[in-house]
Amino acid sequence: MITQPLREEHKALFPEVEKLRIAADSAGQVSAKALRLLVDEAYGFLTHHLIPHARAEDEALYPVVGRVMGAPEATATMSRDHIEVGKLTSDLSRLRLELATAAPSEVQVRELRLVLYGLYALVKHHFAKEEEIYLPLLDERLTPEEAHEMFEALERAAEHAKQAPSAEREAH
Ligand SMILES: [Fe+2]
Ligand SMILES: [Fe+2]
Repeated sequence: MITQPLREEHKALFPEVEKLRIAADSAGQVSAKALRLLVDEAYGFLTHHLIPHARAEDEALYPVVGRVMGAPEATATMSRDHIEVGKLTSDLSRLRLELATAAPSEVQVRELRLVLYGLYALVKHHFAKEEEIYLPLLDERLTPEEAHEMFEALERAAEHAKQAPSAEREAH
């Protein structure tokens, strides 16, 4: 399949997505120190891996999907999912800072669960939409040359996104 590299990338990201759920399960069940580590790990994954991946897709994948569909605006709903990931990551960042200085209150534990389960459900569903709807479309309609070009552009965009930290990371 032409889009195999992107499927592989999702496969590599997915165990980290599962850890968002595990971190949510752990809130209120483990020590403050253990929870801090889980939150740090989740936050690191989101800011260093998932958000750069999403930014690269906005730049180099979705425009190709839009062109193939003959409707450039069709991918706006998927880009909106990426924005939501950014918003939930900001919420997580705030909670992370609160947790850094004191054991979490019951309210903070509930908030943390909400944010982490929300991210888990959103990202899992989002991956499924890309893999089940967008990638088969590209497999069917892109020439190997077009696919090659797209993957090169995606790689460049991802590298760029990793080097240029998001506003979120700049803030901390
Ligand atoms: Fe995406
Ligand atoms: Fe993706």
